Amino acid sequence: MADYQPADSAFALDRDCKTLARHVLEQLHSFGPEAQDLSALMSRIALAGKLVARHLSRAGLMESALGFTGETNVQGEAVKKMDIYANDVFISVFKQSGLVCRLASEEMEKPYYIPENCPVGRYTLLYDPIDGSSNVDINLNVGSIFSIRRQQGDDLDQTGADLLQDGHQQLAAGYILYGPSTILVYSIGKGVHAFVLDPSLGEFILATENIQTPAHGPTYSVNEGNFWQWEDSIRDFTRYVHRHDGYSARYTGALVADFHRILTQGGVFLYPGTTKKPEGKLRLLYETAPLAFLIEQAGGRASTGTEEIMSVVPGEIHQRTPFVVGSKDDVALAESFIQDHSRRQGTLLTNES
Ligand code: AHG
Ligand code: MN
Ligand code: MN
Repeated sequence: MADYQPADSAFALDRDCKTLARHVLEQLHSFGPEAQDLSALMSRIALAGKLVARHLSRAGLMESALGFTGETNVQGEAVKKMDIYANDVFISVFKQSGLVCRLASEEMEKPYYIPENCPVGRYTLLYDPIDGSSNVDINLNVGSIFSIRRQQGDDLDQTGADLLQDGHQQLAAGYILYGPSTILVYSIGKGVHAFVLDPSLGEFILATENIQTPAHGPTYSVNEGNFWQWEDSIRDFTRYVHRHDGYSARYTGALVADFHRILTQGGVFLYPGTTKKPEGKLRLLYETAPLAFLIEQAGGRASTGTEEIMSVVPGEIHQRTPFVVGSKDDVALAESFIQDHSRRQGTLLTNES
């Protein structure tokens, strides 16, 4: 009797079995405790993504999805109902997981500590539950961004001070992009991989492994409505791309969507400092650092304009940074305007003194 040969459909079956949990273990070539933890953490993230995607898919039909809560968050921003729903989804999904000791979110001034009566783990989830929330009510792309760090020290005063470290402390990072399909993109430091949610299975299935960002791309993504609030250097960069062929502007108002385009097709996204927000609008621990982790894994770069994002040590949990991210050549071009401008400033000051 010849050995059993699976039919051609076995490829499709095998791919449908390449779930996120299995993919993590395969990358680590290990079934040890930390590998199992990371696999379980990513499965929890996937569950949160499915719950948020389900809510978004029916947002127009339910009370708790569209519009504002009437509250203002620690960022001083009006809170959308979906921000709170998604924030609570991640808490519910991780509370009983025994994997985390606390969750730090854009929507919570202080980290949420796992209650006494729940099992406590040694990881911290940092997240932006809904990124691009201004898009929720008009049914455009939004995302969730996450970063996983290990707890260091005992944090007895529950200030989360050990979280104030650079981006190299991240064990895993990624995002979920809620669009025509729901995709989950993540890295545990071994490349960047994309999964697509198959609603009929209720599973995220592997779609693309080892995403690489081209060295250059045609897209520049920035909110030019802030033009007059920028430093001259950013205005000069914008004038440069206006005048040179081969560039086109794309800006969705959702960082995750703009970033995903840049990650996969190349180009550069910028959210520079403005007169109103000199440090920029985007937050380091749960927006720019996780995305910097990903873009570096994909061969691109992320900087503040003068410093690698991954090296920035925050002074507080909600610290903001200017953000220049994307193809290494395009980030370098934007930085050259910023650094030339600083040099010119320096020369002027020297001449004046
Ligand atoms: P969030 O919805 O989490 O506050 O993030 C919104 C961010 C980011 O997603 C986007 O790139 C940026 O805000 C858009 O800001 P502007 O509207 O100022 O361009
Ligand atoms: Mn955001
Ligand atoms: Mn948000």
